[in-house]
Amino acid sequence: MTAVAPIVVMEKIRRVYKMGPTQVEALKGIDLEIGEGEYVAIMGPSGSGKSTLLHLVGCLDRPTSGRYFLAGQEVSTLTDDELAHIRNQKLGFVFQSFHLLPRMSALRNVEQPLIYARVPAGERRRRAAEALERVHLGHRLHHKPNELSGGERQRVAIARALVNGPALLLADEPTGNLDTATGEEILALFDELHRKGTTILLITHDPEVARRAQRVLRIRDGAFVQEEER
Ligand SMILES: Nc1ncnc2c1ncn2[C@@H]1O[C@H](COP(=O)(O)OP(=O)(O)OP(=O)(O)O)[C@@H](O)[C@H]1O
Ligand SMILES: [Mg+2]
Repeated sequence: MTAVAPIVVMEKIRRVYKMGPTQVEALKGIDLEIGEGEYVAIMGPSGSGKSTLLHLVGCLDRPTSGRYFLAGQEVSTLTDDELAHIRNQKLGFVFQSFHLLPRMSALRNVEQPLIYARVPAGERRRRAAEALERVHLGHRLHHKPNELSGGERQRVAIARALVNGPALLLADEPTGNLDTATGEEILALFDELHRKGTTILLITHDPEVARRAQRVLRIRDGAFVQEEER
């Protein structure tokens, strides 16, 4: 049997939000394992805990209880600074609304995680240009976001997410702000990245988007309800 290195291992993860005297148990004991190179989609109704879970997987938040190992390292107990470092080194994020810096070129936007990681300027530009080529935007390095189409903007965001060579790419409704044809282009790019070895976790409301993943997890009231292998 060939063992696939697990990128994500979550054990009995709970997240309780305290609201004065009341508590909201947003996640009620999540067990999740994602292997290297997997493409996993999470679906679920509004309020089921998808964003809460993505924030935990993305080290933007800490669980109330349970353990989380990311690429072999326990991250459930780290400080905010340590989590910020892990996010920069091991994770790439793609959001519905792109989150690009409006006054900067595509190249400068993609360089941002490398600036944080203190990569020297020359290498930074080389790696940012390479990442933009991977998303087929080698001809748009010096365009600012408002000089790019919606799909091109999302591809800049994907290049930025990939530039540090993350262990895991996280996407929250990445086609939510795009028309069907442009959304299809972005999904084709995810397929291509997956074929080339990128591990992807995606959240979506759209069954057509989830269909592209290898594995679809359904969450309801803070717990997984069923698992489909395809
Ligand atoms: N910061 C918070 N404080 C208190 N309760 C919260 C907080 N964030 C989320 N919740 C509650 O936790 C539950 C899960 O919320 P979450 O945002 O994870 O849902 P979701 O599945 O992402 O929904 P949507 O599809 O609408 O984005 C909801 O009942 C929500 O009201
Ligand atoms: Mg949400």
